[in-house]
Amino acid sequence: MKILVTAGPTREHLDPVRFLSNRSTGKMGFAVAAAAAAAGHDAVLIAGPVSLPSPEGVRRVDVVSARDMLAAVEDELPEADVLVMTAAVADWRPKTTSAQKLKKGAMAPVIELEPNPDILRTVASLKGGRVFVGFAAETGDPVPEAARKLAAKGLDMVVANDVSSPDSGFAVDTNRVTFVFPNGHRTYLPLLSKAEVAARIVAAVEDIAAHGRENTP
Ligand code: CTP
Repeated sequence: MKILVTAGPTREHLDPVRFLSNRSTGKMGFAVAAAAAAAGHDAVLIAGPVSLPSPEGVRRVDVVSARDMLAAVEDELPEADVLVMTAAVADWRPKTTSAQKLKKGAMAPVIELEPNPDILRTVASLKGGRVFVGFAAETGDPVPEAARKLAAKGLDMVVANDVSSPDSGFAVDTNRVTFVFPNGHRTYLPLLSKAEVAARIVAAVEDIAAHGRENTP
């Protein structure tokens, strides 16, 4: 299968040197792309600004903003069988971006924001028989929010992740996640390396592709 994975944060620039972003390092998404390639799939990684080497056997497309990421997903999706959205897409961007560095004296103390597109909602009409997987990174019990996002975004699986725990979340090599499925089933995984979580995600995606979303797992 062709598996499209988004990873990392997006950056929403105010000017060439300043931006809004978040703590995502891209580790989970890079691990999913690596696991997909290792399982023999054609893996394409759409990466926000991160400092990670490209996984072996993966084609990488680098992007900066949420709008760039949406354009790259729209470009790759027609050929893809699977979309795994691990990216921490910035929900808002500054209303105006200056081409020149803003001088302190010219900056207002309030930054006006406007909403970014929701990538999963925007490409929902292109889903067809494709498998769509989302992530829900929450502080506190992530499962109820994951179930809400699964339904709201019409997904086949959401990976629920409590990012407030030190061994599970940003910038660490381990993760404790729960897979949430549309038939109400949940798979609670123990603390695992991100590489092992990634392999389980690829296996779950293969299962959904083979047996359909209602019969998983
Ligand atoms: N996502 C997306 N486009 C966005 C924001 C999020 O496609 N603009 C995707 C993420 O990649 C993730 C899923 O939607 O797979 C859930 O993202 P999350 O940030 O947890 O949820 P939001 O929809 O932004 O909701 P909230 O901010 O209320 O938690």
